[in-house]
Amino acid sequence: MMPNHDRRPVFAANWKMHKGPQATHEYVGAFASLYEARSDRRVVFFPPAISLVAFREAAAAADRPDLELGAQDVHTATEGAHTSAISAPMVAEAGVTWSLAGHSERRREFGDDDAAVAAKTGRILEAGLAPVVCVGETLEERDAGNLRAVLERQVSAVLSSLSPDQRGTLTWAYEPVWAIGTGRTAAPADASEAHAIVREAIGATAGGDIAASAVILYGGSVKPGNIDELMAATGVDGVLVGGASLDPRDFAAICACGTDSER
Ligand code: PGA
Repeated sequence: MMPNHDRRPVFAANWKMHKGPQATHEYVGAFASLYEARSDRRVVFFPPAISLVAFREAAAAADRPDLELGAQDVHTATEGAHTSAISAPMVAEAGVTWSLAGHSERRREFGDDDAAVAAKTGRILEAGLAPVVCVGETLEERDAGNLRAVLERQVSAVLSSLSPDQRGTLTWAYEPVWAIGTGRTAAPADASEAHAIVREAIGATAGGDIAASAVILYGGSVKPGNIDELMAATGVDGVLVGGASLDPRDFAAICACGTDSER
């Protein structure tokens, strides 16, 4: 696989454990009337697994192939005796084209460690899906001066498990754990600093060309009121939005923001 040459900004909605199939249909209908398709950016939704098919059906009914679809998680195996789990080939079969790996809530609540995140990223790529690999430090790690060490460890665990030709195909999300769902957003300068560390860490394992072309999203309390300053921050190539993506009006405003990222 070639390095990621699609450098368009990505606006991604992580619904977490919100919106069943019915609410998903209603949301897509509303969002489609609030946000016009644009060729200069990508819009991706990560609904709960139970609502993936409903999302695909609703987007088709609204004639909106531009609204891309991702899973929030997949198992480290492709099939087997893993009650309640779903695998990358299964979500691919359901018409999904992206998947998150290593969201901090998965790491914290479900024990996904670096090795599991690396394995999941491999399964996602093997299924032909585009991974969004999530990294980020806790407040304790930041306060202890470990920002760089944590990000380097999380990035290299994934990249070193992949073949050289897979390494350029990833999308990354930097999400400081202390900014997720807290209303506390990283200052644009802090986001830029962390994105630069992630990019350097990518370069250390995968080389400078892949680092330069990597798409790195920011996540953590993104909302209509701060999207412009975050997208203007150096090195921010898009956003992964939780709470504010649940309201179609707020997420449409975020997706329609006026500035492209500056490198
Ligand atoms: P938040 O979540 O926007 O609600 O902070 C972001 C995320 O966890 O992806």
